Order: sequence, then structure tokens, then C-alpha cells
Amino acid sequence: MLTTTLLLAFAASGGDGAPMFTEDEWIILRSMSPAILMPDTTNAYEKNENAALLGQHIFFDKRFSSNKEVSCATCHEPDKYFTDGKQIAVGTGQTTRNSPTVLNAAHQRWFFWDGRTDTLWGQPIQTMEHPAEMNIPRKEIAEIIEIDSTLGPLWIKTFGNMDESDIDTIASNVAKSLAAYITKLDSSHAPFDDFVAGDKNAIPASSQRGLKYFIGDGGCLRCHFGPWITDGAFHSVGVGPLDGGALKDAGRAGAIDKLKIAQFTSGGIHSDNPNGMRATISKHIAKRREDWGSFRTPSLRNVAKTAPYMHAGQLATLSDVLEHYSTLENFVSADHHRETILEPLNLNEQQKTDLVAFLESLTAPLPDEKLLKAPE
Ligand code: HEC
Ligand code: HEC
Repeated sequence: MLTTTLLLAFAASGGDGAPMFTEDEWIILRSMSPAILMPDTTNAYEKNENAALLGQHIFFDKRFSSNKEVSCATCHEPDKYFTDGKQIAVGTGQTTRNSPTVLNAAHQRWFFWDGRTDTLWGQPIQTMEHPAEMNIPRKEIAEIIEIDSTLGPLWIKTFGNMDESDIDTIASNVAKSLAAYITKLDSSHAPFDDFVAGDKNAIPASSQRGLKYFIGDGGCLRCHFGPWITDGAFHSVGVGPLDGGALKDAGRAGAIDKLKIAQFTSGGIHSDNPNGMRATISKHIAKRREDWGSFRTPSLRNVAKTAPYMHAGQLATLSDVLEHYSTLENFVSADHHRETILEPLNLNEQQKTDLVAFLESLTAPLPDEKLLKAPE
């Protein structure tokens, strides 16, 4: 009798210490995979191959910076999963935030850590003109493209002759090209997805235990759910500034005003679908008290490859992140009301190891090699 019970328990655990997932848990797992990009109707060039090629050229080209030393790839390095490994990004100057990956970035509803942009193509010109990033005005961007023997003809093929009197349309087309390239940077099929699809051996037992904890007692799912493993919303998990002390970065609260006055938005005149869903949601966005000091929940796909972590790279490793969620010891509150759903998890060593193993199972291969460098 006893032997039978033990045997049954072993079978139920899947063997080798792998946990059993209930039918309800399988429903959750299937909601987390596969991850598929939705089209962005505000960018008519999103799937245009010439636009993507142009974007790829620009992405790796250091001429598009005031000191001719910085390209997009300086901070989004392909072999670092399109991040830079630094706590906070350095371009033509010192920024205040960590460089997120641009792999899979097209899946997002809001861009940047604070979501101050509501389309993928709303981002590049802000970055290029930013004094600390690339520091180059749109007029100069246009000139470089127009007289270049490769970029000039490619531009005409994609957008027709350049009309210098309409510099803002030129700028938005530069941005849409970069977005078309970034949209091709899909790196979303990980061993985790094979596991959900039915391959029980796709991820080790430790990853499976971590997964069970992630969707269960860990409570991670409250913010990290769905195929991109994020709610796409903004929260504070209480990680303080790099230099200690009180929070200085207003996060989401500072972004709403910027979004309202941003030039390249889903509802603006350069959008190819100004009355669509995206635009409608953005129009009705309003500030909430809890926005102060909150940041976008990042996707956890490829997270094992994109250290350091959090909006200012405050945490060096995944173990440090789990240590934070485990103790909340250095929790810095934005306004005396901690996100009520965060409680210290008091993780033991096994749980930490398992959670890291689960996060590692979300690593997908990099996109096609041809996309990882300037076009030939
Ligand atoms: C100086 C380093 C640096 C350079 C150069 C740079 N980026 Fe970034 N990038 C960042 C940082 C830092 C952020 C996050 C900024 C924030 O949240 O305020 C970011 C955010 C982004 C995002 C939003 C990602 C997300 O998850 O929301 C995209 C897309 C992006 N960059 C693409 C580009 C492109 C295209 C270029 C070239 C035109 C570029 N970046 C140049 C550092 C850089
Ligand atoms: C209240 C919502 C919430 C919960 C619950 C939550 N997270 Fe997060 N997570 C976030 C937000 C928001 C950030 C970014 C915070 C920042 O930059 O300041 C983040 C960041 C992370 C990062 C760093 C990602 C990166 O690219 O920098 C990891 C890893 C992570 N969370 C894992 C987990 C795990 C594992 C759990 C469960 C133990 C969990 N999270 C629970 C909202 C949440």
C-alpha cells in the first residue's frame, strides 16, 4: 500500500523531481506561449523590406551622431541580445536609464521604461535628437541619407524623392524604417515554448519547479503574464536609485505629459492609423497617483541574457533580482504606500535556483545572422 502511494506520488511528480502541473495550471501555461507579434497598423512600412533594410543600415551607422562615435548598436549590441551590459546607457553623454533590448520590442504597447511613447516608430527620433544619446538634429539625418550612395537610392525606392521642405515627414519615415528593422528582430521561441507545446524534456526539472512557483505561490504572474510575460503596465517594485537615497525618477508619472505633447504618436498626423485602437487608448490615458516612481513591467523573454536589471541597472544578476523579491529589504517606497501585492517571499536557496532556471528557459536563439550587422 505504502509502496503504491510512493510510486503514485513519484509518477505524479513527473519523475526526476519534475513537478506535476494541474489542468488549471496548464491553462495558464498555454496562455504564456507561443509569443506572436501583432501588426502595428500605425506604421504602413512595418512589413516593407526596403524600409527594413534602410533601418538596418541606419541602426549600425555611427555617422548618425554628433561625435560620429555612437550608433543605435552602441547601446543595443547584437551579441549582447541588443543591450549594452551597462547599468545606465552612455552615448554622446550620460543617460539615466538602462538600455533595454530591442529584440521583440515590437510587441509592446508602451515604449521606454516609462512608456512615454505609444508606438515603436515614436521612439527613434527622440533618441537620435537627445543630447545624451546621439545628439543629431533631423535635418542633418536627412542630409546624410540623401547624399549617401547606398542610402539615397534606397530611400527613393522606399519613400520616393525626399522633400526637404517637409522635414517632419522625413523624420517619421526614418523612424518607421528603424521600426521596420526592429520588427524583424524576433527572438521569442525558447525551450519554455517547446515545453508548453508538449515536449516534457525541453526544460530541466529545476526550470519546471521554478515555473510552477512562478505561476503559483511566487505571485510573479500578477504582473508577468501572457506570451510576453508582462502585463505591459506600470508598477513600482521598490528598487531604489543607483546612488541610494529617495527615488528621483518619476517614471510613468513623468511620461504622461510627454506622451500628450509627443510629435510622433499613434494619434498624430504622421500615424498611418490615427483613429485606431492604439490612438483611442492613448487619447484617454490619465495620470494616476500610483504612477509616480513606477516603471513598465519588462518582458522576461531572454532576460537571462540582458543583465544588469531594472530601469537603472541597479541589480547585477538574476539572483540579485530574486533576492530583492525575497526580502524586499531595500524597498524604497514612492509615496509610503508600497504596492500592496508585494510581500517578501522568503525564498530558500532551492527556490531561487529553480526560479533562475525557469528564467533561463525563456532564452531564445538570436534572429538570423544577417540581421545582426550592417547590411552588406
Ligand atoms: C546611448 C545609448 C542608446 C542609443 C545610442 C540608442 N538607445 Fe535605444 N534605448 C536606450 C535606453 C537607455 C533606452 C531606455 C530609455 C528610457 O526608458 O528612458 C532605450 C530604449 C529604446 C527602445 C524602447 C525599447 C522598449 O523596450 O521600450 C527602442 C525601440 C530603442 N531604444 C531603439 C533604438 C534605436 C532605433 C536607436 C538608434 C536610432 C537607439 N535605440 C539608440 C539607449 C540607447
Ligand atoms: C507588482 C508587479 C510585479 C510582480 C508581482 C513581479 N514583478 Fe518582476 N518586475 C516588475 C516591474 C515593474 C519591473 C521593473 C521595475 C523597475 O525597473 O524598477 C520588474 C522587473 C523584473 C525583472 C528584471 C527584468 C529586467 O529586464 O530588468 C525580473 C527578472 C523580474 N521582474 C522577475 C520577477 C519574478 C521572478 C517575480 C516573482 C517572484 C516578479 N518579477 C514579480 C513587476 C512585477
